[in-house]
Amino acid sequence: MSKLPGHSGISLLSDKSLEFYRDPVAFYQRRIEKHGSRIFEARLLNKSTSFVCSVQGMKELLCEKSSVFQKDPSDVMHHIYGDNIVTANGEEACLLRLSLTQLFTGKCLQACTDYINSVCERCLKGLSASEEPQSIYPLFKRLGTELVLGLFLNVHPEETPDFFREITRLCTLHWHGIISAPVNVKMPLWSSGFCTALEAKDKLMDIIHEKLDCEQEGFVADLRALPLPDDSCAPQHLLLFISALIPKALSSLLTSFTLALCGPSREGIRKRARAEPEYLNHVLLEVQRLWPPFIGGRRIANQDTTLGSYHVSKGYAAMYVSHAIHRDPEVFHQPEEFLPERWSGRNAGQEKLLCSLGNGPRNCIGAQLNHLFLKVACGFLLQHYDWDLSPTPQNLQYKWLPVSRPIVPPMVSFKSLGCSTSQQTEGASVRQDND
Ligand code: HEM
Repeated sequence: MSKLPGHSGISLLSDKSLEFYRDPVAFYQRRIEKHGSRIFEARLLNKSTSFVCSVQGMKELLCEKSSVFQKDPSDVMHHIYGDNIVTANGEEACLLRLSLTQLFTGKCLQACTDYINSVCERCLKGLSASEEPQSIYPLFKRLGTELVLGLFLNVHPEETPDFFREITRLCTLHWHGIISAPVNVKMPLWSSGFCTALEAKDKLMDIIHEKLDCEQEGFVADLRALPLPDDSCAPQHLLLFISALIPKALSSLLTSFTLALCGPSREGIRKRARAEPEYLNHVLLEVQRLWPPFIGGRRIANQDTTLGSYHVSKGYAAMYVSHAIHRDPEVFHQPEEFLPERWSGRNAGQEKLLCSLGNGPRNCIGAQLNHLFLKVACGFLLQHYDWDLSPTPQNLQYKWLPVSRPIVPPMVSFKSLGCSTSQQTEGASVRQDND
């Protein structure tokens, strides 16, 4: 058994967190080249960490050795969201998944379809009306927020606009706590982002408790009816589900989809995706492969073990890097190219090798909902519009943390395809049973 390539030193001085958070892609590319290996070691968050950048390594970490590599209960998510499934392990995590998954699959998922169609229509129907270019990232984030607050909290901007705005504001403040240092400092006229986030969380929890007490149907009532370990479990999870994280991830994917299919050079792809649902699926897989919203996830080894035949000691961390895994040339030929056809050719049936929604027994429980939403939103855009950057060219360089998106918000102009609204809506609506 050999030692992992690279080194993590012994103290804070060797810590590479800053370098990683500044530019995670340059970080891993430099080391893969230097060590000639897609698994290597460096110090992150002051812990010796194995970085996993290959499909094989990801499968070993997240699937085969999922009982050895466990979630970190002291993850920064825990500071800001409290106890929930994301940082739970073992039997507790299994039972929570068993209960919560029901809310995002089967009948519950089917019940979301009409609502998703109506939100997409409301938010996306006027894009060509003003002939002005649109800043697509905030536009899609608003769509994601309407979707999440409507589905999970039964709060709709057209019914209670002030309440909707207030919750959105609180969710944003709460989110800023994740990306600020966990220091709870408050002084007159100044409070740290983390402290402000905790105050926003308290207000959100008041709203959530009220909803759980009053709502008689929909997601909140379904959640209340689940067998959960204690009384704090439902509110804590509702806080997680309405967090700004999900609209940001959805907006990241919709933005990447729009950019990937932009302009005259991608007209053929748009036409084919419009006509062939299977091809649209392949386009969406390719978008998730090249632009995963989250850079990856972290685990801690609960015993001495191996990764890719390298030794990993108990207590050490391992981080899978989706961006790198999705570009593993062993599995994805021409890894940097946007090639939807790969999913009907060489990579047919290999979508389980992606990890933009995690992988293995701790993958994303919202994966099917996410897929449905993307299908409806991207289907709506395709059925109604052609689009291009405006002005051209634009700087489309991405940042990858905390959620991937172009650094400069891209501006896109949409041109109506010109069919009547009722025809368009019929074409764009997606029914669960057509899947
Ligand atoms: C674009 C949308 C989404 C993306 C990119 C995404 C991504 C992910 C990823 C990468 C993980 C695995 C984290 C890890 O390995 O440590 C995960 C887990 C999870 N996701 Fe999602 N997710 C999305 C939407 C959703 C939605 C809509 C929900 C539900 C409302 C959701 C709920 C969860 C939960 C509860 C977990 C933790 C599962 C566990 O730890 O067992 N996600 N998600």
